[in-house]
Formats: sequence, structure tokens, C-alpha cells
Amino acid sequence: EQNMNSLIMIFGATGDLAKRKLFPSLYRLFERGRLTNKFAVIGVARRPLSNDEFQQSVKDSVVAALGRDKNIEEFISHFYYQSHDVTDSNSYISLKKFAEQIDYHYSLDGNRIFYLAMAPEFFGTIALHLKSDGLTDVSGYKRLVIEKPFGHDLESAKELNKQIRTAFSEEEIYRIDHYLGKEMVRNIEVIRFANAIFEPLWNNRYISNIQITSSEILGVEERGRYYETSGALRDMVQNHMMQMVALLAMEPPIKLSTNEIRSEKVRVFRSLRAVEGEEVKDYFVRGQYGEGTIEDEQVQAYRNEPMVDKQSTTETFVAGKVMIDNFRWAGVPFYIRTGKRMTEKSTKIVIQFKDIPMNLYYQTEKMLNPNLLVIHIQPEEGITLHLNAKKAGGHLDAQEVKLSFANTGVHAMNTPEGYEKLLFDCMNGDATNFTHWDEVAYSWSFVDKISKFWQKEQASFPNYQSGTMGPNAADELLEKDGFFWWPVT
Ligand code: BG6
Repeated sequence: EQNMNSLIMIFGATGDLAKRKLFPSLYRLFERGRLTNKFAVIGVARRPLSNDEFQQSVKDSVVAALGRDKNIEEFISHFYYQSHDVTDSNSYISLKKFAEQIDYHYSLDGNRIFYLAMAPEFFGTIALHLKSDGLTDVSGYKRLVIEKPFGHDLESAKELNKQIRTAFSEEEIYRIDHYLGKEMVRNIEVIRFANAIFEPLWNNRYISNIQITSSEILGVEERGRYYETSGALRDMVQNHMMQMVALLAMEPPIKLSTNEIRSEKVRVFRSLRAVEGEEVKDYFVRGQYGEGTIEDEQVQAYRNEPMVDKQSTTETFVAGKVMIDNFRWAGVPFYIRTGKRMTEKSTKIVIQFKDIPMNLYYQTEKMLNPNLLVIHIQPEEGITLHLNAKKAGGHLDAQEVKLSFANTGVHAMNTPEGYEKLLFDCMNGDATNFTHWDEVAYSWSFVDKISKFWQKEQASFPNYQSGTMGPNAADELLEKDGFFWWPVT
């Protein structure tokens, strides 16, 4: 067991992420007795607030997120606030003094977690100051938790990495990809490697294609300023979608250690078929939502959202065909699809197996369905296996049957659970479910080639209506390979 005592400094403690995810997640850990008494949080942000006001805001956000407040007074008594200017050394020097007092008061053994939950333009500056103003001179461990976006492209990611590496070693850096905190994303590896019936089939001899869809109902909301510089490719594909690809495609690690798992994932990234120039058209499709109706509500086009350019060419939807050129996966497309303002909020993975060599059971109108394994990431969590079995009655007709397993009890989407696991992992010194620099770098270099081509090609946007599954081109992408997106439930 690791020493869990720690002082957590949250930069951006008045922000959205802290309130919606981090405070409720810490509370859940506290509730379950997973935090010792030896923990304290210093919230750091620009605006002046007293400790009391800050503690009140922590309480409010816990109640808002979870609807309960048992022992909340005890919980919030561990929270402190420091108003801070991220560019001013004096600010860091007083933060250091304050941290030392708190450390002493709670006997935290000099363990520090610095959590950067704020605008990414300050990540580098903060890391440099933490070092130069002495906050990283600690007798215990020091860890940096850093939120996305990790750069805007490979170049800027390298620059950022260089800055944070002056103050922290790679082992001390915890790059968040919140999809790696999701229960069923973590389950991919167990489903694959703990079942004798899947792993032998998990290759190009038996799998015809894999489809990963992460659709959202929400539009860009108040995040126009950020999203205009990002788009779905950088916002969702570079990180979450590619992480899911890596987990599905990686070789079995020789053991379940952080390094072994990450290095298998890196090998997947290294085998990605680079797509560039005109080729991008054959592999990737982009879209932007126009107005439409979702769940009976009329919604506006992306270009009319706040802080969005009226002629914006930012994509709010991406579909792509990702090829992994290695022995296991040669010839098997991994189709990915993600977007805003689609029909439903859902993330799922469909593994389509190849057709059986000869079909004895042709039905009158319908061919046999191929076997599908569906991994439901959210909002439902579970797995479904689609098989064919005999229809009850006289004829030898086959019909589809489904074997389903649902993780019950864990329902709401976008809950703090993911963050709860990630925070716990970080306190525990387990970096397995955080992204290593090599993964980030390979993924950016894959994605950069696509955005480079898109930048110089005109897009005719908007090209899908809100409340649909994206532009027609996303369907054609599969049709030309003889497939279609499975509309599975
Ligand atoms: C974030 C993106 O990383 O993931 C958001 O920045 C997106 O644009 C969100 O809405 C989706 O996460 P989840 O957990 O709701 O699928």
C-alpha cells in the first residue's frame, strides 16, 4: 500500500471542473473511507475568497452533484483557499509557506499533488513557477495532474511537455483522459484478457471490423471560445477515441503493470497507418451541425452559438477509418465516430465478427446476422453478445438472440465516478490509466496530418442537422467497404 497522505493543490478551484467533478469525487472517496484523515486540499484561483466561502462552495457542489451531505462539515474542514496570481512569484512564495503549515498540521509527510484544472495556456507557466519558487522541493512525493487539452498539435504538446518536464519527471506526471476513468473502458482489457472465448478470435481472421461511436446530444454550450480552436478531432479523437482504439487493439501485456500496459498501447499507436494529403478524404469525414430538433426541442446551428464565428469551419463531428498495420489487425478497419448534437448521448463499441464460411440457414428475406459483441460504455454499462439460434417452432430458421450483461447500480452518465477512480489512482501512485507522453505524441502526429489537410480544403458546413447521426458521408465511409454502422441497442 502506498502512502495516501497528501496535500492536494487544485489550481482552478473556482472553475467548472473542480465544482462538477473534483469536489464531488473527493467527497465520494471520503464517504467510502478511502481518504485517511491525513489529507487536505488547497484551492487556488485568482478571485479573493475566504476559507469559509470556499468551504461553502465545496459543500454546495457536493450537494448539487450528489444530493447528500453526510459528515460534510468534517469533509470541508480539510479545504483551504488561497487567492493566487499564476504569473507572480510572490504568489507562489506565499502558497509555499501556506502549504508547509498545512502539511505540518495534518502530518502529510511532504506529499504533494498539484492538480491543474484550468485554462491550458497557463499549464507551462505554473509548472515552471512550481519549480523555481520551490513548491516542488518536498520531502515526500510530488505529482502533477494535468487536464486536457495537452497541446493543440504535436509541436505545442512538445513545448508544453518540455516545460512540465523541467519540474516533474515522466513518472510524476498524470495526464488525464477521463475516458480511462470510465468503468467499462477499464473493463475492455478484462473482457479481452480474462476470457478464453474472445482472445483467440481477437484478430483479423475472425473480426471483420470494429465500430466505436461516442455521440452527444449537447452542443458546444458556453465553450465556443475553446471549441473554435479545437473541433471534434482534437477535442475527442486525439484523446478519448484513440485511447479506446489502443485498448481494443493492444497485445496482451506480459503483466498488468503500468509500464507493460502503456508500452503495449504505444505499440498500437506506432502501428497506426498514417493518413495524409488527399488520402484523408478516403479515411476521414468531418461535419458541423446545423439547426434541428432534439428530443422535441428546437436547437440552433453551431455557427449561431455564442463565441462561434458565423462562418466557422470548425468540425463538430468526425468519422474515420483507422487502420492498424500489424500482424494481428492487417485489413481490419476500426471505424470511429463522434459528434455533438446527435440523436443520443451514448458511447459504445461494436465488434463485428466475420460471417461463417457457409450459411445453411438462409431465411426468406433476411441473411443471417454476423455475431456482434457490443461493449456499452455509457449511459448503460455492460456487454451484449449477439448470436443466432433456432427460432422456436417447426422450421429450422435462425433468429438473432442476445446475451446481455448490465452493470447495475451505476447509471448516470458523466458522473464523478471516473474522476473518483483517477484521483484515487493518483494518490495511490498508479499511473496506468493516465496517458504517457509517447501515447500523446504518436496520437498527435496521427491527428495533425488530418487537420493539416482539412485546414487547406474548404468544408461546406453545416452538413448535418442537429438530432441526426451526422453527415451522409459518414455512412458512405462504411458503405464503400461493404459495412454499415450497427444501430444496436
Ligand atoms: C470532453 C470534451 O473531453 O469530453 C467535451 O472536451 C465532451 O467536449 C466530453 O463533451 C464528453 O465526455 P463524456 O464523459 O460526457 O462522454
